[in-house]
Amino acid sequence: MWEGKAPGKVILFGEHAVVYGRPAIAVPVSGVEVRVMVRPGERGSGVWLECCDLPATDKGKGGSHYPLREAPAGDPLRVAVLLGLTHMGIVPSLEPDLVITISSTIPIARGLGSGAAVTTAIMRALAAYFNRPLSPEETSQLVYEVEKLFHGTPSGIDNTVIAYEQPVYFVRGEPVELLEVGKPFSMVIADTGVSSITRQVVGEVHQRWQLERTRYEGLFDAIAAVVRAARESILKGEWRALGPLMDENQALLEELDVSSPELDRLLATARSAGALGAKLSGAGRGGFMIALVEQESIMPVTEALRQAGAAQVLSTRVLSPSTPVAPEGN
Ligand code: MEV
Repeated sequence: MWEGKAPGKVILFGEHAVVYGRPAIAVPVSGVEVRVMVRPGERGSGVWLECCDLPATDKGKGGSHYPLREAPAGDPLRVAVLLGLTHMGIVPSLEPDLVITISSTIPIARGLGSGAAVTTAIMRALAAYFNRPLSPEETSQLVYEVEKLFHGTPSGIDNTVIAYEQPVYFVRGEPVELLEVGKPFSMVIADTGVSSITRQVVGEVHQRWQLERTRYEGLFDAIAAVVRAARESILKGEWRALGPLMDENQALLEELDVSSPELDRLLATARSAGALGAKLSGAGRGGFMIALVEQESIMPVTEALRQAGAAQVLSTRVLSPSTPVAPEGN
């Protein structure tokens, strides 16, 4: 049995503006993950996909066990496996006999990068099976190819943060900066329970940008200034300064009209329960919100969000691999 895994992600700052060339910051979320197992199949069986706990999508079959060759051409899992096999030097028409089992705890269509994580884990599992090294850069490129087919005009931040599994400062088309987190900090992240289709929300912002270019470019520039300030604070370990910056980024996202009443309610709840700042994360209109918290506020903020009807509440610690694991200081 050969295995590949990938975490979820949240965007800390800069969603939407990042599609228009501005910087954004994203971090992996390790409390949720996709696992893909590959094992040899029966002789002559070809590739079979087992998607244990993936809900069905309009493209994929989900929750089932089916041969790759019977999957619709637009099934993202089929596309990912064929791309992975080709990359490993396997001629897809000479299908190897494999069973690929996919399971995930990352909620779908909530801004946690489930699509990019599934593709990443598939690439890693195939690379392990065929004994091929696969760098984060290579993984990110492969995943981006699949993202482009299903998300229209993705900036590339999701595949980057998930493939590198580290906090990233990302500008479209530029080499990624792996962000050094001066001091670790904690966040509570909560699901509105409302699905958010990234392609759709990004498309709506694009339409409004076409109508009001000057205003939208101004908003994207204002978001970029917040992201740059956040980068400085993260590098210096001044993490408490991120709270007001999150609130400022949220106000700008509201001006882009991508928030929602459910998000606004959870954001207000987190702030009044002691969060230092809060914002939506990802495309918006639903999905997850994130809140910056002191260690001692994790429990009360989590409880308040549950009481307010959040579908799921997680907490995550943001650090880079080189961050000394020291108590959360001032
Ligand atoms: C999606 O996680 C974030 C957006 O900025 C879209 C993208 O960057 O491709 C909304």
